[in-house]
Amino acid sequence: MKEFENKVVVVTGASQGIGLQTVKEYAKNGAKVVMVAINKDGLEKSLDAIKDGKENVSYIVCDLSKPKEIKTMSEEVLRKYNRIDIVVCNVGAFSDKLPWNEIDDKTWHDCLSLNTLSAYYCIKYFGEYMIKNRINGNFVCTGSSTALHLKKGRLHYSVSKCAIHDMAKILAMDLAKYNIRVNVVSPGPTATELVQARIDDPRQVDAEKERLKKIPLGRYAKMVDIANAIMFLSSEKASFITGAILPVDGGYTIGETI
Ligand SMILES: NC(=O)c1ccc[n+]([C@@H]2O[C@H](COP(=O)([O-])OP(=O)(O)OC[C@H]3O[C@@H](n4cnc5c(N)ncnc54)[C@H](OP(=O)(O)O)[C@@H]3O)[C@@H](O)[C@H]2O)c1
Repeated sequence: MKEFENKVVVVTGASQGIGLQTVKEYAKNGAKVVMVAINKDGLEKSLDAIKDGKENVSYIVCDLSKPKEIKTMSEEVLRKYNRIDIVVCNVGAFSDKLPWNEIDDKTWHDCLSLNTLSAYYCIKYFGEYMIKNRINGNFVCTGSSTALHLKKGRLHYSVSKCAIHDMAKILAMDLAKYNIRVNVVSPGPTATELVQARIDDPRQVDAEKERLKKIPLGRYAKMVDIANAIMFLSSEKASFITGAILPVDGGYTIGETI
C-alpha cells in the first residue's frame, strides 16, 4: 500500500512551482489530490503533465485571495470526497521591493490576503469539517526563509510570511485537542521555473554567485526538497509534530554566513 493511499489532499497554488511538485509527489504516493489555483488553462496544462497517479488528481479554479471563493472551493471538495485529510496552504506571491514608506493600502491588502489569510480560511473551513467528522487531519503551510532571516526592502511580503509562521503555531494550539496538526515548511530560495529563469540569465551570473555564497550547502533548494518536507510533516511519521517551523533552506537562515 502506498503511503498516502486513501488520503484526500488539497494543495493551493498548485499549477506551478512548489505546489505542482507537491501535487506530483502526493499523486505518486497514492493520494487523491485536488489542485487549486486561479488560472484554468494553467491548471489543465499542469494536470496534463502529471504522470504517476494522474487518475486521482483533479482541479478547482478559485481566487484564493477571496474568502467566499475558498468557502465554495472547500464545499466542492467535501461534496466530492466526503472527506479531507491534508491541506497544503501553499499559495503565495513574491512581491517587488518597495521603500518602507511607499507601500499603499492595496499592496498590503493583496499581499496579506493571498499569503496569509488564504491559509487562515482554508484551515477554518476544512478544520471545522475535520472537527465535526472526527478526522485527525493536518495542515502544512508554506512559509519562507524571509520570515526567519529578516531583510529590508520587502516589508509587506516579510510581514505576511512572519504572520503565517505565527498563525500556524497559534492554530496548532487551538486544534491540538482534536488531534489536528498544523505545521509550516519554510523554504529558502528555491529553483522554481520562475527562479530558474533568473539563474539561467547570463546577465545574472555574478549576482547568482553572490547569492549562492549565502547558502551553506551551496545551492538553491530543488522543488522536490520542499515537497518532501511537506509530505513528511503531513505523514504519520510526523504524528507528534505540531506547531513546527521546518526550514528547508540549505542552512540559509542559520546565521550570517559570509
Ligand atoms: N520560490 C521560492 O524561492 C520561494 C521561497 C520561499 C517561499 N516560497 C513560497 O512558496 C510558495 C510557492 O511559491 P512558488 O515560487 O512555487 O510559487 P509560483 O511558482 O509563483 O506559483 C504560484 C501559484 O499560486 C497560484 N496563484 C497565484 N495567485 C493566486 C490566486 N489569487 N488564487 C489562486 N491561486 C493563485 C498560481 O496559480 P495560477 O498559475 O493559476 O496563477 C500558481 O499556481 C509561496 O507561498 C511562496 O511565497 C517560495
